[in-house]
Amino acid sequence: MIQITPLTDAIGACIDGVDLSQPVSESVQQQIRDAFLEHAVVLFPGQAISHEQQLAAARIFGEQGQLHRPREFQPKAYDALPPGIMMISNIREDGVPIGSLPDGEMMFHHDMIHREIPDKATLLYAVEIPSVGGDTWFASGYAAYDTLPDTWKTRLKGLRANHLYHYGSTKKGDDKGTPAFGTCSHPVVRTNHETGRKSLYVNRLMTDHIEGLDRTESDEILQFLFDHCEQDAFVYKHQWTIGDLVVWDNRCSMHARTDFPAGERRLLFRTTVLDTQPPM
Ligand code: SIN
Repeated sequence: MIQITPLTDAIGACIDGVDLSQPVSESVQQQIRDAFLEHAVVLFPGQAISHEQQLAAARIFGEQGQLHRPREFQPKAYDALPPGIMMISNIREDGVPIGSLPDGEMMFHHDMIHREIPDKATLLYAVEIPSVGGDTWFASGYAAYDTLPDTWKTRLKGLRANHLYHYGSTKKGDDKGTPAFGTCSHPVVRTNHETGRKSLYVNRLMTDHIEGLDRTESDEILQFLFDHCEQDAFVYKHQWTIGDLVVWDNRCSMHARTDFPAGERRLLFRTTVLDTQPPM
């Protein structure tokens, strides 16, 4: 029997009673999709799944995504993985990380916000985790929008923000000399076309400026919004256990990672789900 338990008032639900190494019936898939739309983040604890089974889990939510990253920015170890599987890992071979986003803290962000059609969802499956830290935090963009004073809702109407990303960056300005891969503008307030709900769609890592405003005014608005969005009341803080699969909706949630000891191994497999239309 599938059981769905909210993890906080604002965001996240734990789904028990689903074994993703087995085929999942259409009615259970529908319950999972409904929980995903309602809670924005869903956790499946205690999974033991292969890459193919993780890709099948991604297809519950939509069309499986591929890696967008050009060859020269992909770790060599990806050659051994099926297309669509990415490693998030600090493990190194001959001094070179086998995965992406290897080290330490990561600021809040929405995956692929720098592209015209950002990914709908991301799935992360924990295989090795450090003894402390490396938690992933999820913030509800719905709660952030809903709690804005009306004056702010009016001020944000029609505004668009410009986003960019440097491969491997985990903190603003931490571009390690890589070129920004794409830059895109999207509405500051985004409506999730599947739920009709509005969420705030800017983040501290990747949002550069609000279009049409001078830098001072843009920075002032963004600083307020970043601080507002990241309030504890809107955040679910996930401490990983091996076998956890977490799926998040990038349209209405953002996520961040806490620091962890560099000498301890961390390995998670990541898959994505494509969206069907640009943010509106
Ligand atoms: C990510 O932002 O996709 C990685 C999150 C994590 O490593 O916890």
